Amino acid sequence: MTISSATALAHPNIAFIKYWGNRDDSLRLPQNGSISMNLAELSTRTMLTFDPSLPRDIFDLNGTRQSGESLHRVTNHLNIIRGLRGVSVHAHIMSENNFPADAGIASSASAFAALTLAAVSALGIEMSEKDLSRLARRGSGSACRSIPGGYVEWYRGNTDVDSFAVSFAEPGHWDLADCIAIVDIGQKKVGSSLGHTLAKSSPLQEARVLDADRRIDICKQAIRNRDFTALAEVIELDSNLLHAIMMTSHPPLYYWMPATLEIMYAVQSWRKTGTPVAFTVDAGPNVHVICESDSSKQVRQRLSKMPMVKDVIVTHPGGKARLV
Ligand code: PMV
Repeated sequence: MTISSATALAHPNIAFIKYWGNRDDSLRLPQNGSISMNLAELSTRTMLTFDPSLPRDIFDLNGTRQSGESLHRVTNHLNIIRGLRGVSVHAHIMSENNFPADAGIASSASAFAALTLAAVSALGIEMSEKDLSRLARRGSGSACRSIPGGYVEWYRGNTDVDSFAVSFAEPGHWDLADCIAIVDIGQKKVGSSLGHTLAKSSPLQEARVLDADRRIDICKQAIRNRDFTALAEVIELDSNLLHAIMMTSHPPLYYWMPATLEIMYAVQSWRKTGTPVAFTVDAGPNVHVICESDSSKQVRQRLSKMPMVKDVIVTHPGGKARLV
């Protein structure tokens, strides 16, 4: 094989109905389906070069050479993709996030979506969006939702073949904003891969999973109808259910910090006094404050005035993963 390269860009996504817990950890088959929105202003750009002269994979993230778990995860994912072509050639991967590594914004979704697209195209493999999404899922579950654009549903599926994500509304369908209130930077937390394995130890997980399709339907309908009141109610419920599982796992995981709860209270009081806003919180303490774009300036100002908020990053619905 000769040297071949490709560069791909993908956006992270914020889940409105969240994924937590796998039926199959190695295939990353989720226990429940999920819904998300890609985040346009944030992205991972990955340049990948397959080079027969390399003795092993080399992975540079934001200019820093990676080793250990971070390199291992990338190599494992590339092994799956190399296996599709029956090749063993190593790669040099240069990946850059346009958002600070210490902002507490999960980058594995955009990272594995961009890595998958770059590797597949550098190997000259023709692949449908569905199959790219299935493949990205193997690197990080939520990465399958960063392959299609806009508002996305990840079908839970039953096997590797039917667990993938599709777009159900274009980014321009509804001009929402995600105002990410950063309350903590750089603190090490329990990563989501370990979190997924702990989910089943919570006595509440079964109830959360059983009710997931109902929440997915409500959330999709709210997005289709641009019904903010319905969206706010279902995403806050879903976020609280996720954290209830985390806090009741064995061992328990506490991602909220006092500042997280303070913002959640503030968001609820702003909504009561007429501003359409809602919160959702992932596997970290930062709060994603969702609103319609015309209120984002006001929401950012209010968040910025809170003493424990270190920064506010405002993002809008983003497109699909693409070659650049
Ligand atoms: O894709 P992972 O393994 O990083 O898991 C993502 C988990 C959450 O962000 C908490 C929820 C989600 O659906 O994105």
